[in-house]
Amino acid sequence: MRIPTEKLNEVSQANNIVDVISQYIPVKKKGKTFVALCPFHPDKNPSLHISQEKQVFFCFGCKKGGNVFRFVQDYEKISFNEAVLKLAERVGIKIAFKKGDVDISNEISKLYEINKIAAKYFYNNLLNIKGSEKDFLNEYFKVRKIKKNTIVKFGLGYASRGWNNLSSYFLDNTDFTIEDLRLAGLVKINEKGSFYDTFRGRLIFPIFNENDKVVGFGARKLFEDDEIEGKYINTQETKIYQKRQILYGLNFAKDSIRAKDFVLIVEGYFDLISLSQAGINNVVATSGTALTLEQLKLLSRYTQNIILNFDSDIAGVKASKAGIQLILETGMNLNIITLPENQDPDSFINIYGKDEFEKLINKKVSFIDFVSSVYKKENKLNTAEEKTEFIKEIISFIVRIPDKIKRAFYIKEISTKYGLYESDLRDELEKSMKTYRKETSTKSASSFINTNKKLNKESEIQKVESDLIELFIHGTPEAVEYLVYNVELDFIENEIVYNIICKFLDEYTNEGKIDVAKITNDLDDEKAIQLISEKSVPRYDLSEYDDFDRHTLIFSVTKKNIDYLKAAKDLIKKFKIVKIRKEIEELKKKGNHNGILQKQKEIKEIQKSED
Ligand code: GTP
Ligand code: MN
Repeated sequence: MRIPTEKLNEVSQANNIVDVISQYIPVKKKGKTFVALCPFHPDKNPSLHISQEKQVFFCFGCKKGGNVFRFVQDYEKISFNEAVLKLAERVGIKIAFKKGDVDISNEISKLYEINKIAAKYFYNNLLNIKGSEKDFLNEYFKVRKIKKNTIVKFGLGYASRGWNNLSSYFLDNTDFTIEDLRLAGLVKINEKGSFYDTFRGRLIFPIFNENDKVVGFGARKLFEDDEIEGKYINTQETKIYQKRQILYGLNFAKDSIRAKDFVLIVEGYFDLISLSQAGINNVVATSGTALTLEQLKLLSRYTQNIILNFDSDIAGVKASKAGIQLILETGMNLNIITLPENQDPDSFINIYGKDEFEKLINKKVSFIDFVSSVYKKENKLNTAEEKTEFIKEIISFIVRIPDKIKRAFYIKEISTKYGLYESDLRDELEKSMKTYRKETSTKSASSFINTNKKLNKESEIQKVESDLIELFIHGTPEAVEYLVYNVELDFIENEIVYNIICKFLDEYTNEGKIDVAKITNDLDDEKAIQLISEKSVPRYDLSEYDDFDRHTLIFSVTKKNIDYLKAAKDLIKKFKIVKIRKEIEELKKKGNHNGILQKQKEIKEIQKSED
């Protein structure tokens, strides 16, 4: 069920965001703004900023932001509606909305609900099953050393053998249709049009997203006569389950990752749950697929330190190398551990125990030593040619590190380790950098992870667009009015910015002003909310934020009294100029020199004009 926007506004207006956040974490006043250590990522200096005036928060470290509902939702790890109820209760507002009601008004919430019901079904089935299947499962868990607690913690389940167990359950007990189940990946339909359960006779691992919601399932083969090939099968991609975006176990691991300030990446479901059972919790699993940038972005909110642990077989080494490259590109810190031949973390911890595994962690090595150990193992580090190939490969990794100083340290390390001249290595690095830069597009992995850095690479149009949002939020009434009447929507290229500005115009037309907290109640697009929040925290405090390299066109952060109206006029001019510059680029391609001159004249006129 969707709570009406008016109700949301009523509740958010009654809950001052500073007071609410202060109930959860210590908040300090700093100038006009309030700051706190961000609870959503490991934070050493307060990077969470709260704007009393705009009633939003934004963290410059992990980029989380939004209004008061968002904070409570993310902090308490509850749904949006639950956060609204909680805050309504806090101030004694009644919402005609029963707690048990579930929201299935749109496809996404429907998918969540179906997955939740299915997970419960599989779980109860595992605990309650009788007869020979029960004996079989008991024996399976005994052999694999999985305890009851672990089954409960991870919500493991069992899909019985048979074609329609789950689908019958749904049809008998819910209003969901077979088509709903098919969209959720739980049912398949054959050529004849009859349907059957996707998971049959398998051990079920519910896959959770970061907010503890079940988004899909991994299912392990249990029976020899299982006609399906794969040892594991997974839910197909759905609107809520995108493999690139999910790391198995992150929801269980995040607190521990934050506390230990590193994360261990393993391959398998069993690796993760066995490590957790042994008390090692800062672990996530890639579930057999290649590590993605999106997954690293998720992790970067909790730590910058990664320990990779992949199987030491050939496939494992290959997977590690691709993973290594990606991690280096993001600028995150990387170490690697390797297990004895033919072991995975699951088997290792069950044989040798936690202490031995922790010793392994302490013996982690840099990617340089890891690659060298692979060469040694293959006995390929003997001749000058082999060594050269090795060094060149190492350099091809170093090239990917965005930080120049870090690159220099690695060069020094190999120079010392392998008795090579630093200058020779640097020459090779230079050469390698050139090819690498040619190969990669402008969108680098590090900018994907770290939006601070992305700001440096912002194009002119992005700067103008981001200034536009900022001015709408902070501008005086005259300035905002000027923008409302002069901004042309087709100036705006970025879709998110476009949607935000539409919303602003809408709000201005209806209310005569821009109320940020209200607008965020009405927006569904997370990125839009984030951007609005970022632009809402008071400006001059940004200058105190070391990492925050501002490239703003219209404001000088040191200026105390900003002439907003002038800024608005300048900004509109800039939009026009950017647009003409683009036209010039087009004319250049066509070689139309007269056209170019004409356009350049137009630019000069705009620059000279007094509004
Ligand atoms: P166990 O053999 O039960 O210990 O599983 P494991 O986790 O050790 O399996 P393995 O090391 O072979 O694979 C690691 C991970 O890759 C698994 O946890 C799965 O997520 C994934 N995986 C393995 N086999 C398959 C498969 O056949 N299909 C798919 N889709 N994924 C697989
Ligand atoms: Mn295994």
